[in-house]
Amino acid sequence: MGALPPFEFDEKILGQGAEISRRLDQLRLENFPPDAKKTLRRFPMSEVAHYLGISPNNLKRLHLEGKGPEPLIAAAGRRFYTAEQMMELRHYLDKNGRSDAKKYVPFRKPGEKLQVVAVVNFKGGSGKTTTAAHLAQHLALTGHRVLVVDLDPQASLSALHGFQPELDGNPSLYDAIRYDDKRRPISDVILPTNFPLLEIIPANLELQEFEFDTPLSMQTSNEGKRFYSRLGRSLAEVDERFDVVVIDCPPQLGFLTLTALTASTSVLVTVHPQMLDLMSMSQFLLMLGNFVKSIREKGAPVKIDWLRYLITRFEPTDVPQTRMLGFMQTVLAEELLKNPMLKSTAISDAGLTKQTLYEVERKSFSRDTYDRAIEALDAVNFEVQGLIHRAWGRM
Ligand SMILES: Nc1ncnc2c1ncn2[C@@H]1O[C@H](COP(=O)(O)OP(=O)(O)OP(=O)(O)O)[C@@H](O)[C@H]1O
Ligand SMILES: [Mg+2]
Repeated sequence: MGALPPFEFDEKILGQGAEISRRLDQLRLENFPPDAKKTLRRFPMSEVAHYLGISPNNLKRLHLEGKGPEPLIAAAGRRFYTAEQMMELRHYLDKNGRSDAKKYVPFRKPGEKLQVVAVVNFKGGSGKTTTAAHLAQHLALTGHRVLVVDLDPQASLSALHGFQPELDGNPSLYDAIRYDDKRRPISDVILPTNFPLLEIIPANLELQEFEFDTPLSMQTSNEGKRFYSRLGRSLAEVDERFDVVVIDCPPQLGFLTLTALTASTSVLVTVHPQMLDLMSMSQFLLMLGNFVKSIREKGAPVKIDWLRYLITRFEPTDVPQTRMLGFMQTVLAEELLKNPMLKSTAISDAGLTKQTLYEVERKSFSRDTYDRAIEALDAVNFEVQGLIHRAWGRM
């Protein structure tokens, strides 16, 4: 074996960092060329009926009577609609339905305030990005106007939506919340996605600057002292355009996360049901509680309508995990979402090709795997949607 060879630590990691980045860029270019544009599949009639909240037979009848948009007819007479056509169907049903309820287009009505959901936890890998991406897309598929904000400089949520900050040089929220005169209106950094009702503020590494700028600005200006209001003020500029904003927070409790929480009306804490994750979460809650208390004392208007914990990557056959679930049910009671998100290879495999489960075709997976995952996801997302609607006073 012999003595370990000497090496310069900094030279070594700089070299390896650069080499990994170069090779990854190569891989990315091969798998996802810079000009690649994300498209969206068509949705089979059963899925469309499910997201619209009507029976497949009613939807079929509409088509047979020549009403509403014309679906694509595939083999064996199977009908497929685009996401745009799903929205057309919503408008059609509200216009021609028997009731006056206008329930198919669920846009906000006067008096219903913009819902801002922050997905947080400082434990890395607790499922924040996966949860935020699927929730935002589910809300869009169920007819809401959604803005999803990637607040993590690592930009995983942006990557999932086809943005590659290293190659595309996309803007980020930093452009809208920075302290100097380069600040731009938030509408400049909102970009379309492949889902018709979903828009995104992507992220890039520059976002991290906010963590450095804020303490400096605090020493010299009131703007810095009131750092927490920056996102809220920016969002107010586009309040009319959206029903729900979903924020994917970074895995740290810095100024970005605090800014998100001050702008939020609700908080979703994602947690994997294992002892170490739970211990880390309890530390997070204690720190967060103290931070929020101190910025509230300085005048930050933190007003959260609801807080929920979401169990992520749950494996029902794993005994220690089910024990942890029981423990959390006892301690968190009301605040624990009834539906946990199951661990599924469908989610992680879809992630490998930068897709969500709502984007992939059912036929790419074994039927059971796909159905189990999508059922669990829909259950979680409909439960969260219910809370949003309750915050609007609809139920
Ligand atoms: N339900 C699930 N089933 C299987 N894999 C999952 C599931 N949820 C998340 N994952 C995988 O776990 C990994 C971490 O998830 P994710 O990126 O959502 O966590 P995160 O909390 O955003 O992480 P970070 O703290 O680094 O931002 C990802 O590779 C994702 O594909
Ligand atoms: Mg993440």
